[in-house]
Amino acid sequence: MKYLVTGAAGFIGFKVSERLCAMGHEVVGIDNLNAYYDVNLKLARLDRLKPLDNFSFVELDLADREGIANLFAESGFGRVIHLAAQAGVRYSIENPMAYADSNLVGHLTILEGCRHHKVEHLVYASSSSVYGLNAKMPFSTADSVDHPISLYAATKKANELMSHTYAHLYGVPTTGLRFFTVYGPWGRPDMALFKFTKSILNGEAIDVYNHGNLSRDFTYIDDVVEGIIRIQDVIPTVDDNWSVEMATPFTSSAPYRVFNIGNGNPVNLMDFISALETALGIEAVKNMMDMQPGDVYSTWADTEDLFKTVAYKPEMDVATGVKLFVDWYREFYQC
Ligand SMILES: NC(=O)c1ccc[n+]([C@@H]2O[C@H](COP(=O)([O-])OP(=O)(O)OC[C@H]3O[C@@H](n4cnc5c(N)ncnc54)[C@H](O)[C@@H]3O)[C@@H](O)[C@H]2O)c1
Repeated sequence: MKYLVTGAAGFIGFKVSERLCAMGHEVVGIDNLNAYYDVNLKLARLDRLKPLDNFSFVELDLADREGIANLFAESGFGRVIHLAAQAGVRYSIENPMAYADSNLVGHLTILEGCRHHKVEHLVYASSSSVYGLNAKMPFSTADSVDHPISLYAATKKANELMSHTYAHLYGVPTTGLRFFTVYGPWGRPDMALFKFTKSILNGEAIDVYNHGNLSRDFTYIDDVVEGIIRIQDVIPTVDDNWSVEMATPFTSSAPYRVFNIGNGNPVNLMDFISALETALGIEAVKNMMDMQPGDVYSTWADTEDLFKTVAYKPEMDVATGVKLFVDWYREFYQC
């Protein structure tokens, strides 16, 4: 099977590409290698992929309509795993237009490619942030998600709506995956675990938002990859018995599905920091801060649907997962 993986130099895209190649598939990875965070980390991930015989890389921007159209026309992709996006909640407050280009125009160029070249399955990244102001826990894909609180979240919700439209109009089978705070080796420098680790090792204070009164359903990278690999084999089909009165936003009469991929076990931020302090053997100096605009208080994934569909549930505990991250960080940065 020939795959397009977008965001192949990114955290999740790199790991998914590696796994697909190990399974013997042919993978074309694209990425624009933007400078949102350290480009050297993106290049180091690519350095691991490039020697693989069944991997090839194209530096390309999702918003380059002609470039993406040509790539689809030349390549004959069977399946597409679309993980490139402008990520980050806080950055979307300062740089809204980056989200329009990468997440809205970019998602559309991928949908167009899938439509015109009869791709068998488009699997794309959504986010737990779509749950926005929802307070009912755990977050279920059956819940309405009409109250996002960051532009990032709004673009992810828009991706689900755009995908539904293409599934309905053109029969493109699409599956959206709402990831919940993914962490682990090769992770993102803009996320809390990475920032905390760097600061603690440099003897600097860490910024703890909302005075630590936050919780997240931290999900280990290998669990996320396993979920993606299993789900991409389950191609959504038309459900003739579906009706709008069934009020199931995660299914449709079109070949469209949405799943949560989360650990299903929310962890308080202070407990997460304790796990990091234990793994590092250093107590952090904490700079207690107020809540940040765009942030949600808690996330918690209902993973029953994922389990029913692919017999899989993420299971990594935070103490082990954080330790694995710290081991990687210390080796990678030689510190
Ligand atoms: N990591 C998480 O906790 C998390 C949580 C929820 C959703 N997500 C989503 O999962 C996906 C992967 O996230 P990640 O953590 O691997 O992020 P990442 O930033 O590490 O990876 C995204 C990659 O996409 C590339 N990219 C961005 N804009 C592009 C464009 N216009 N054209 C081509 N390439 C572009 C970036 O250079 C980057 O390498 C994203 O869609 C993200 O929004 C991630």
